[in-house]
Amino acid sequence: MKITMIGAGYVGLVSGVCFSDFGHEVICVEKDRNKLAQLQAGEVPIYEPGLKSLMTRNIAEGRLTFSDDLETAMDGSDAVFIAVGTPSRRGDGFADLTYVYDTAREIGQKLKTPTVVVTKSTVPVGTNREVQRIIAACNPATEFAVASNPEFLREGSAIEDFMRPNRVVVGVEDPQAETVLRQIYRPLSLRETPLLVTGLETAEIIKYAANAFLATKITFINEIADLCEKTGGDVQQVAKGIGLDARIGGKFLHAGPGYGGSCFPKDTQALVQTGQQHGAPQRIVETVVAVNAARKSAMTEKIIAACGGDVAGKRIAVLGVTFKPNTDDMRDAPSLVILPELMAAGAEITATDPEAGAEAVQLLPGVDWAKDAYAAAEGADALVIITEWNTFRGLDLPRIAGLLKSPVFIDLRNIYPVDEVQDAGLIHTGIGKGGAG
Ligand code: UGA
Repeated sequence: MKITMIGAGYVGLVSGVCFSDFGHEVICVEKDRNKLAQLQAGEVPIYEPGLKSLMTRNIAEGRLTFSDDLETAMDGSDAVFIAVGTPSRRGDGFADLTYVYDTAREIGQKLKTPTVVVTKSTVPVGTNREVQRIIAACNPATEFAVASNPEFLREGSAIEDFMRPNRVVVGVEDPQAETVLRQIYRPLSLRETPLLVTGLETAEIIKYAANAFLATKITFINEIADLCEKTGGDVQQVAKGIGLDARIGGKFLHAGPGYGGSCFPKDTQALVQTGQQHGAPQRIVETVVAVNAARKSAMTEKIIAACGGDVAGKRIAVLGVTFKPNTDDMRDAPSLVILPELMAAGAEITATDPEAGAEAVQLLPGVDWAKDAYAAAEGADALVIITEWNTFRGLDLPRIAGLLKSPVFIDLRNIYPVDEVQDAGLIHTGIGKGGAG
């Protein structure tokens, strides 16, 4: 199959690279000149484990190229994927579809050979019909069909998620287009991955329902954690106790500082807006959005309480600022709320993170940066783990206790057993650990 992937951002690049690894011929079209130059030089603009080697191999084997020439790229393509951004629109939280519709217009103007236009960007229900309408209005002469193919990749494990997904969802009405998509995903069907074929609207809703459900699961366990703290329960055991019920499942039941990232915050908000727009309010998701927003500030209060009720003039070591491990993504990271609030309360912050780079420095003015956890801990009045990077999972706790000025250890991801922390002479504060701090 010959595939054009429009947009070499997170989703487009991972999908393009993985499709080329399936054996397809892929051209990724990227308008941003800097990003294009990087990609053409074989560099990966984002941090994603495994992506670089896969990209290098497929470039070398001649299946993967990068270009800014959409017209040439689309010529003879079996499928043209739209993988451009759909950020939250400022002010109202609707998904901003400007890039998707601009792309549809450009496809319509430049399409010369019949193809299937597949939307991979996360788009609200109804968008694919509009894409169809826009292309048809621009280019009535060339045959095309539209399909929706949402992605379920997690940052940090995107390659694995693409290569071994739980399912592939394809919203499509044209039988010929369905055949093309089945052909594209054939390597996965050989691994018996279910390929669910639905209508356009259903596929669009599946994407939002999946993310909203997962965000709800996290928010649910976060509130149960609060109850555990008030009553002497242990949320990790509660999560295990309910998660072993196959109807519930144990995944996405890790209580923490609230979900962040480029997807859950944006998609839950967009679903709320779509529900209101169509007279089908999504009240559970509305509550999830509000509870999650409040949770980040609640974490600041937790830290202040663990520091004796006052952080003025105190120095706090922060381990991890990205929204989750194995990414350099800072979007909606809990740290972006917690750190400024601590500084507003008079604290000094020394943070460390294995991947957060210039963007984090810019987003968190006033923060001092240390090279590792031990350097951050030296002379600090408290240590807080916000992101559960592997490198923070195996800390030498007695050494940390020796470096800290006072032994306050706050683990917002519950990665350390309480007794291990206490045995090192540290005072433990976790999430939903009612019996122990
Ligand atoms: C999420 C979904 O998991 C993917 O399936 C989806 O494709 C993607 O959004 C998207 O729409 O593009 P991602 O945002 O990369 O992926 O990361 P997750 O691993 O889902 O984590 C999201 C947030 O939830 C993080 O802040 C994480 O710390 C938090 N989380 C996750 C918890 O607090 N507890 C958990 O048990 C799991």
